[in-house]
Amino acid sequence: MRFSTWVFLFLFTGSVAIEASKLFEAPVFIFGDSTVDVGTNNFLPVRQEIKANFPYNGIDYPYSEPTGRFSNGYNIADQIVRLLGYKRSPPAFLYLLNHASSFKKKILQGVNFASGGSGILDGTGGGFNNSMSLGKQIQQFVTVHSNITELRGTEETADMLSNSLFLISAGSNDIFDYLRINGNPSLPDFLTTIHSTYHDHLKSLYDLGARKFGIISVPPTGCCPLLRTKNSTGGCFEVANEYAQSFYNAAEDILRQLSSELPGMTYSLGNLYEMTMIVIEDQYAFGFKNIDRACCGSALSQCNQNASLCWNRDEYLFWDWVHPTQLASRLAALTLYGGSTRFVTPMNFSQLAGVDV
Ligand SMILES: *[C@@H]1O[C@H](CO)[C@@H](O)[C@H](O)[C@H]1NC(C)=O
Ligand SMILES: *[C@@H]1O[C@H](CO)[C@@H](O)[C@H](O)[C@H]1NC(C)=O
Ligand SMILES: *[C@@H]1O[C@H](CO)[C@@H](O)[C@H](O)[C@H]1NC(C)=O
Ligand SMILES: *[C@@H]1O[C@H](CO)[C@@H](O)[C@H](O)[C@H]1NC(C)=O
Ligand SMILES: *[C@@H]1O[C@H](CO)[C@@H](O)[C@H](O)[C@H]1NC(C)=O
Repeated sequence: MRFSTWVFLFLFTGSVAIEASKLFEAPVFIFGDSTVDVGTNNFLPVRQEIKANFPYNGIDYPYSEPTGRFSNGYNIADQIVRLLGYKRSPPAFLYLLNHASSFKKKILQGVNFASGGSGILDGTGGGFNNSMSLGKQIQQFVTVHSNITELRGTEETADMLSNSLFLISAGSNDIFDYLRINGNPSLPDFLTTIHSTYHDHLKSLYDLGARKFGIISVPPTGCCPLLRTKNSTGGCFEVANEYAQSFYNAAEDILRQLSSELPGMTYSLGNLYEMTMIVIEDQYAFGFKNIDRACCGSALSQCNQNASLCWNRDEYLFWDWVHPTQLASRLAALTLYGGSTRFVTPMNFSQLAGVDV
């Protein structure tokens, strides 16, 4: 299928086909938390709260399969990858490790390292016992990097990785944990730590050959059903939202700095805060009848088979106490893929994928 598309483009559009074939063939590597986890945590001895491989999760996924995605269907990683023209969302690294016979073939098509409950800081999610922090995910990528190098050689690997999209969605759990654990939270302290750690992680990926960074910033975390319980009026928990907005500014600063220092580094930064706030403030325009309650479970209890379940899932912004529905993820993915600079800057993900490195 891919091959014939390539031939078609080559025959009818000449040199443009070369760009298109690169775009289709370069693997995608995905890092981050439960917003993009496709089953990593199924393989970890983590607490039930950061697992999703049971109903009603996955109820709208093909065959209603609970895959470990924190969603009624596809998550934002799946949706972006599909919009970019890939047939499949890359599987979890730990899944591939457990299917050794296809490991070498599959890693050339992309890998997802994301782990629910994890954060940019190593300590985040520590309370959850062993979710894979962003740092550990990058260590796993080091392994994959050496496996690809073994298969393809240094030069071809570097070429392949420079055309690959590195998709990262992280930060919300750092905010959750910091506010939960610190009796006396300090926004400047939080930002200083996040700034240097996120900077170092991105630099590590660059040093391993990454050039195209698709970064998804954090949503208004204070507006999820769980944190709304911290506001007696049921409104958004403003402190968490303040952290989320500042997180975006920090991410923008890091990316500007890195791209000015590192040759060939390009990025798109998606402002999930802005996208989500617009939906919350104008919910009916987007077809959402409910933007503050969980479709499955409640604000204080996880979605599982015994939980209550809404029937009109496409009218809910939130699938469970923290995570968006499949439809909300799709809206975000469409905006990241093709949106204007108000939402994704300095270019959108489709433009990023097309950049000739
Ligand atoms: C982490 O695991 C240890 C050992 O299994 C357990 O005693 C502890 O309660 C766990 N911590 C959390 C926060 O789940
Ligand atoms: C991948 O690389 C790691 C570290 O270099 C190595 O231990 C492992 O055996 C490799 N896996 C395969 C399938 O080649
Ligand atoms: C609670 O929500 C209201 C209404 O949105 C808002 O004005 C207020 O600042 C919020 N309070 C807290 C503690 O976040
Ligand atoms: C659901 O409820 C049944 C009956 O009370 C119980 O046996 C089961 O463990 C519950 N399952 C979950 C996931 O809570
Ligand atoms: C973003 O993506 C679309 C679709 O690929 C593209 O046509 C458009 O020019 C981009 N929008 C902006 C504002 O850059």
